[in-house]
Amino acid sequence: MRIFVTGATGFIGAAIVHELISAGHQVLGLTRSEAGARSLAAVGAEVHRGDIEDLDSLRRGAALVDGVIHTAFNHDFSTFLANCEADRQAVEAMGSTLQGSDRPLVVTSVAMLGASARGLPATEDNFNPESPNPRNASERAAVALTQRGVNVSVVRLPQVHNPVKQGLISPLIELAREKGVAAYVDAGLNRWAAVHLSDAARVYVLALEKRVAGSRYHAVAEEGIALRTITEVIGHGLNVPVKSIAASDAPAHFGWLAPFVGHDMPASSALTQERLAWQPKGPGLIADLEQMRYV
Ligand SMILES: NC(=O)c1ccc[n+]([C@@H]2O[C@H](COP(=O)([O-])OP(=O)(O)OC[C@H]3O[C@@H](n4cnc5c(N)ncnc54)[C@H](OP(=O)(O)O)[C@@H]3O)[C@@H](O)[C@H]2O)c1
Repeated sequence: MRIFVTGATGFIGAAIVHELISAGHQVLGLTRSEAGARSLAAVGAEVHRGDIEDLDSLRRGAALVDGVIHTAFNHDFSTFLANCEADRQAVEAMGSTLQGSDRPLVVTSVAMLGASARGLPATEDNFNPESPNPRNASERAAVALTQRGVNVSVVRLPQVHNPVKQGLISPLIELAREKGVAAYVDAGLNRWAAVHLSDAARVYVLALEKRVAGSRYHAVAEEGIALRTITEVIGHGLNVPVKSIAASDAPAHFGWLAPFVGHDMPASSALTQERLAWQPKGPGLIADLEQMRYV
């Protein structure tokens, strides 16, 4: 198949492009920049110049292909609400272009949106459209498209890691470096789910090939690792002390990361493993954090 990949130059998108090309697919990759165009050409992908805020550029890309994988996202957290709304519009625009065909669209979401009863891991079939998390806009768009007969799947991600980058843990490492202390909130028992980059990329390609309309998948290898455990590895890597911060002091210490750092967000992938015959193979989060170069 010829697949339009948005975010094709990003951390996860580039791994998906590699996986698609290795599986014999052709890739049309979206990028805003000349440097992005060069990196896509270097791996054998075709280039589609555009922007997720230029909906016509997305529609043109989606019209040229057999399927779409959408991973582009503006990660400026100071405009998070607007970025989530932009993502909703991007999903809607590409899905509308595919409407009337069986061509699949795979949308990116976050594993915490599958949260059920407090303390239980998030599950694939759980989705609360009323969730206060603005990121649910992307999944609301996916649901609306499914109701219009578009073949949409959602891949939900936890912290995606390799020895270079580890989701929200990367800015936590930078904060610990800047403050000279690695910190967690209260007892640090809240958990974050995780997956290795290569395992996450395989879930996208399997979801695309499986093309089950209205499906949700969790690219999750580890259900939940306590923030205290993660922080201790960071402290050791940076050679800085590790300490607990009271929840009331978290906003002052962690800034925009505060709402995440104290949050318990375990997630299960039992249904995904069964439905896609997918099994995670990559190293775990702690192993990758131990491999990181901290200097
Ligand atoms: N990394 C994680 O651990 C993690 C965890 C949960 C969810 N996610 C989600 O997974 C997806 C991919 O994340 P990532 O970590 O791979 O992101 P990333 O490395 O920051 O890459 C972002 C990509 O989005 C593109 N992009 C950004 N703004 C754009 C715009 N205005 N128009 C077009 N493209 C734009 C960039 O392309 P150009 O610069 O080439 O235009 C880049 O390829 C996102 O939806 C993210 O929220 C990631």
